[in-house]
Amino acid sequence: MSVVSAASPRDAVRSRRTPDPCAVVIFGATGDLAHRKLMPALYRLARLGRIASCAVVGVARRPKTDEAFRAEMAEAVLGPSPPASARSAWTAFAQGLSYVQAEFGDALAYDRLRDALDRLDRERGTAGNRLYYLATAPAFYAGIVRRLGEHGLVVRSASGDAGGWARVVVEKPFGRDLASAHALNGTLRDVFREAQIYRIDHYLGKETVQNILVFRFANGIFEPLWNQHFIDHVQITVAETVGVEGRAGYYESAGVVRDIVQNHMMQLLTLVAMEAPVAFEADEVREEKVKVLRAARRLSSDDVARHVVLGQYSRGTIGDEQIPGYLQEPGVAPDSRTPTYAAMRVLVDNWRWAGVPFFLRSGKRLPKRVTEIAVQFKRPPLPMFRGAGGREPNLLALRIQPDEGISLRFVAKAPGTAMTLRPVDMGFAYAAAFGEGEELSEYERLLLDCMLGDATLFTRRDEVEEAWSLLAPVLTWWDATAAPSVPVPYAAGTWGPDAARTLIERDGRRWRTP
Ligand code: BG6
Repeated sequence: MSVVSAASPRDAVRSRRTPDPCAVVIFGATGDLAHRKLMPALYRLARLGRIASCAVVGVARRPKTDEAFRAEMAEAVLGPSPPASARSAWTAFAQGLSYVQAEFGDALAYDRLRDALDRLDRERGTAGNRLYYLATAPAFYAGIVRRLGEHGLVVRSASGDAGGWARVVVEKPFGRDLASAHALNGTLRDVFREAQIYRIDHYLGKETVQNILVFRFANGIFEPLWNQHFIDHVQITVAETVGVEGRAGYYESAGVVRDIVQNHMMQLLTLVAMEAPVAFEADEVREEKVKVLRAARRLSSDDVARHVVLGQYSRGTIGDEQIPGYLQEPGVAPDSRTPTYAAMRVLVDNWRWAGVPFFLRSGKRLPKRVTEIAVQFKRPPLPMFRGAGGREPNLLALRIQPDEGISLRFVAKAPGTAMTLRPVDMGFAYAAAFGEGEELSEYERLLLDCMLGDATLFTRRDEVEEAWSLLAPVLTWWDATAAPSVPVPYAAGTWGPDAARTLIERDGRRWRTP
């Protein structure tokens, strides 16, 4: 991980390496993800010289020539009318792009894919190295993986020792519950070894998310306080102002629990709660993360309604904008019960965290876009300055986005003869400290890591299953309950339903307004 490179020469070397030439095969190449994220990321990596030679094979159902595919990708990456200078750089990159038309279940298509890959090995020196990217609808994942196996397109090597390597990147959602995630893991493991499987969560590609580990484990002063003796509780917030952005088809069956909580929020939870790993290596880091999920207390069906709140936005305003309710979004069923907001209280039953609640909340159409982890410390044992104010507890806020940074709130004496106390903030802002660098975006970073064979920032099999198991009671409750209060409405532009306030206030704590 490059952010920890100052502490680890081995990682520094690793992060500067250029990956072996390889063929990146994108299943679902004409879809939204390929257009918006994957192709721009590959292009920028090539422009920055971070990948030496890259051949991309787009695989999708619509018939298309290589030329038409290149033109479509040019528009996706450069926009409709790019300047001539951008065009010439693109032309060099585009020579490495080709297209294979395929119904994903059609065996012959995989023969065509094999021919295309063999040709790239000869013409572009990809040496049998393949990175398969599953960017289709999730329903196709298992079938594609099986066919890759049946057609001999997967060497069982993650490293290339046997003459070429194969790796597979699996996009979220990884299953829709524990059983389907388990089944998908089984199919993947029939064809690939675990070291060849990269379950992607773009949150782990964010610099500030990686910085959680650096903050905790490259500094000496915070870790001694990072436990139940000093921490009162932790709040993890992923708030969005956007709605479903034309993705109602997907979102209706996902909802916030599957869309954000099961993956992005669980990642934030594990990073903030894990023990120090033995080394910054994929298995050591993931071993510690999975222990947090294993220790997280499962809710009984009786407890769910008390510790979880699901909400759905109704009409409201954000800034000056009138926002329609979720039920008015195109493609949403008029009686949809899909939650767009979730708040939950999680307890991690281990020695470090016994009795410290983690409050998680995420929602769409909230007043502000902000992702942060707020660690609230216990109060001093005795109030020395009675009546002077300043009763606010110490709070450490790790701001993941936007305005990336860290702030520490403590109490200070306001100037003047009276003893008046005020909370003040000591802050670190990424932009001010490091300026605008050439840092990689989430997908750039994660694609590069796959090509390098570094799975540290990807989710392991047991991790994804533990996360589903933790959320199983919530999903069952949502599916089974007929209660009209699930989900509870909240007006767009507010911080979620009132019930979420009750959830935390029952514990004697309050949501912070970021
Ligand atoms: C995606 C979800 O995984 O994350 C979206 O599917 C969500 O619904 C997005 O908007 C949020 O990502 P970010 O990086 O903007 O916080």
